[in-house]
Formats: sequence, C-alpha cells, structure tokens
Amino acid sequence: RRSPPCVLVIFGASGDLTARKLLPALERLAAYGALPAEVALVGVARTPMTDEEFGSHCRETVAATDDPRWTELTATARYVAGDYDDPATYARLAEVLEDCDRRQGTAGGRVYYLATPPRLFGPIAVSLGKAGLGAPTGQGFVRAVIEKPFGWDETSARELYADLSTAFTEEQIFRIDHYLAKETVQNLLALRFANSVFEPIWNRTWVEDVQITVAETLGVGSRGGFYETTGAMRDIVQNHVLQVLSLFLMEPPTSFHAEAIRDEKVKLLRAIRPLDEEAQIATNAVRGQYTRGGTREELMPGYREEPGVDPLSSTETFVALKLDIDNWRWTGVPVFVRTGKRLPARVTEVAMQFRRPPQLPLFPGTEAGLEPDALIVRVAPDEGVSLRFGAKVPGHAFRVQKASMDFSYESFDQESIDAYERVILDALIGDPTLFIRADEVGRSWRIVDPVLRYWAGDPQPIPLYQAATWGPPEATALMTRTGRSWRHGT
Ligand code: BG6
Repeated sequence: RRSPPCVLVIFGASGDLTARKLLPALERLAAYGALPAEVALVGVARTPMTDEEFGSHCRETVAATDDPRWTELTATARYVAGDYDDPATYARLAEVLEDCDRRQGTAGGRVYYLATPPRLFGPIAVSLGKAGLGAPTGQGFVRAVIEKPFGWDETSARELYADLSTAFTEEQIFRIDHYLAKETVQNLLALRFANSVFEPIWNRTWVEDVQITVAETLGVGSRGGFYETTGAMRDIVQNHVLQVLSLFLMEPPTSFHAEAIRDEKVKLLRAIRPLDEEAQIATNAVRGQYTRGGTREELMPGYREEPGVDPLSSTETFVALKLDIDNWRWTGVPVFVRTGKRLPARVTEVAMQFRRPPQLPLFPGTEAGLEPDALIVRVAPDEGVSLRFGAKVPGHAFRVQKASMDFSYESFDQESIDAYERVILDALIGDPTLFIRADEVGRSWRIVDPVLRYWAGDPQPIPLYQAATWGPPEATALMTRTGRSWRHGT
C-alpha cells in the first residue's frame, strides 16, 4: 500500500506526540517505500525554527536510521512557525502548500494531523476553514486527523464537531483510537467472520458473560495534570473499551467496507442500556483511586501524591461497570468491563465465558471449582487467543481440570505493524475503517455521561485501593452479587 501524492501537515510539530509516535512511524513508512517522492512534510508549531532546523529535528528524533528516503523527506521538509489563532500562520501555510504542489508534485492533497493539545482541535479547524484550507481543490483531497479525547462529555463533543464542521465534512475527519489499529483488535474481525466455528456460539444461548479488562501497572506518572481533568472513564472506557466491546459483540457487517462496519458498531452501542437511574449506577458502576502501595523495595506513590494532582482529588483511576445489551443476540448476558492504573498486572483482554454443561454432577467434585469454558483474546501483552476447556487429568480418578488451546502471534513469522504507522498510512490513503465516526463518539458519551454526572455529585468519598491490587472491594462485590468472579484477581 502506498500513499497518493499529498502534503502531510503536522500541527504541534515540535511537541511530544510528534517526536514519540509520528516521526518514528513516518520514518518506517518512508523506509518501506509507502511514501512516494510526491509526499511532502510540513510542520506547524509555535516554537521558532527554520525549515532546515525542523528537518534536522526530525532526523535527530529518529536516531537509528540513515534510510535515504527518510533523509530526502526530512531534507525537503518545510516549517511554519506561528500562533494557532493567528490568521498570518494560515496565510503562510497556504503559500507553503502551494509551493509544495509546484515543487514536489503533491497535487493539492492535504492531510492535517492535529498533534496538539485537544483544546486546540476546534480553533485550528475553524482557522483552517477561514483560510479556505478545508475544501479540496482540483484533483486534490483534504483530510483532518485528530486523536481522542473527542470532547469531555456529549455536549463538548458536539461543540467540537460543530467547530470541525466549519472546515470539514464528516468524510474528511479521521478520528484515531489507537486500539483499533492494534493487530489483535483487528483480529477480532478475522476470528469472528473468517471462521465458522465461533459465530454459532456467539450469542446468549451459549455465552454466560463477557469480561473486558484493560489493566495497567503504571500510575499516571508525569501526566497528572492531564489525568486530573480526564480520569479512567474518559481516558479508557469512553473510547478504547467501548470500541473493543462493539467490535467483539456487533452483528456481522454486510461487507468489510468502513461504513458497513461502523454501522454495526454504532448499532451495538445504541443497544447498550444506559445507566441513567441513580439506583442502577450505584449497583452497576464502581470507581476507585489508588493509594500508596507495593512492596518495601518498590513503594509506589498514591494518586494524590503524583505531580500535578490535587492532594484532595477525587478523580477515578479505576472503573468497573456491568453493562446490559438490549438486543436479540445478547439480552441477559452481562458484560463486565474493568480498567485501572496501578493494578498488579498489565493485561488487556476480552474474554467470553460459556455456560456450564447441564450435567456437571457427572464429574463429582467439579461443580464448584471448575471455571467455565472461555475464549480469551489477549490484546496485550503476549498477543494471541486461548480457548479454555475441561480435560481429564491422567490417573485412575475421573478428575477434570482446565486446559488451554493457545494461539500466539509469535507463531507468525512477521512483525506486527505499529499502530501509528497503520493509522497514518490509512489517513494518507483515505481508508476510514479504523477511525471513529461522529455518531459513535456521541453514543459512547451517552453511555458514560450519566455515570460521570452521578459520581461528580456523589457525596460519598471515592473508594480507594492500594497500588498493585485489583481495585476497591466494591469491584469484587459487583461480581459476587451476580455469583461470578473476575478472571484476574478477585
Ligand atoms: C491512552 C491513555 O489512550 O492509552 C493512557 O491515554 C493509556 O492513559 C494508554 O496508558 C494505554 O494504551 P496501550 O496501547 O498501552 O494499552
């Protein structure tokens, strides 16, 4: 796959996201030959720099390479220094873009990547629109790429959409959720729809419950200031968890075209019963915040001790939810989701647990202890899929124990593609499959907003959990109340 001729314009070109993710991904794309000579790079940021300085910054950021195509891309890179709200910045940008078309044959193709703080997405889009840079000219195309958070709640998401719409149509907006670009998340589509063994049991007749876990061992580190206004619900559940959940549980799409897949995802999101009554929220939603913990050798600070965090903060670093889906396929199958920072293990997985066989007493002693059969998709680490089932333990007694059939991504002799490499190339090519549509964003906020509002007004202090434990006791209670347990921890 190769990009068509175009200019990739990075707003926030001197920033952290550009250095950590975008430039390394671009280097690899250049080195694979995915960027033809008619692709130009333009940086926009407030830091004063010349074109040459920006080019050297790009090369120094990606140190371990002397690929000639990368050297060429960065040697011809252009840079526009200026304030994002100053019309002069956009006037200069317009000149540089025309110059690229003339000198490098970029043919009016533009991809604006907004690698800035999210509060600038709206203002930058509005300025691009005013400068006439949002509409395609001639044979060219114009796209804008932004990364979550898409607003702070449903209302601000709508305001952001209104700002973006002053310059771009929905088809021009590419919203990144880096989870969708993960190999294992995409494999959900292959697992479900390229096989015939799974789909017949993918419903309430066979499935007992679904558990989605995004557990991180790290704390918020240096991102305290950002996290204070975000919290685990906005940072992980509203986007990554709901995206994975909808791919895992949606109806089969009629084709693999972006719109067909996104239509099914949004239908599933619409079927999630909103938790909008206080009693439902109190029973089905748990929040938590980590306190100091760990071992004497590795003592981890509590959330309120992290830099940039209010010492009285009630921001949640942990969320567990029980969700119900009101559709033909999933009615009565609870979906449990859980995410948190400073948990004991780094695990991102989706697990489907199957109903127990009707006659467990055939195997005495197994009724209570035997965990249900399960299909587990491990998104990270140790990417792969496992099928857990009961097998006879060798010996005279007829004892049944859980065994596992495992598929690991390592068995493929091919490296996984980095998520940013994939999304940048998709945006350049114009394939929106792995990007989120506006109606998905709105629906996801509608699911989490009532819970966030309830927590904001909840006079009870936020439940606490020690760092390196599996969340507050309330999370265990959420499960035990339904006669179940979490697959990891208690
Ligand atoms: C980001 C969140 O979107 O996802 C981070 O802002 C989180 O807080 C990260 O750590 C997790 O992503 P991954 O790919 O490491 O699971």
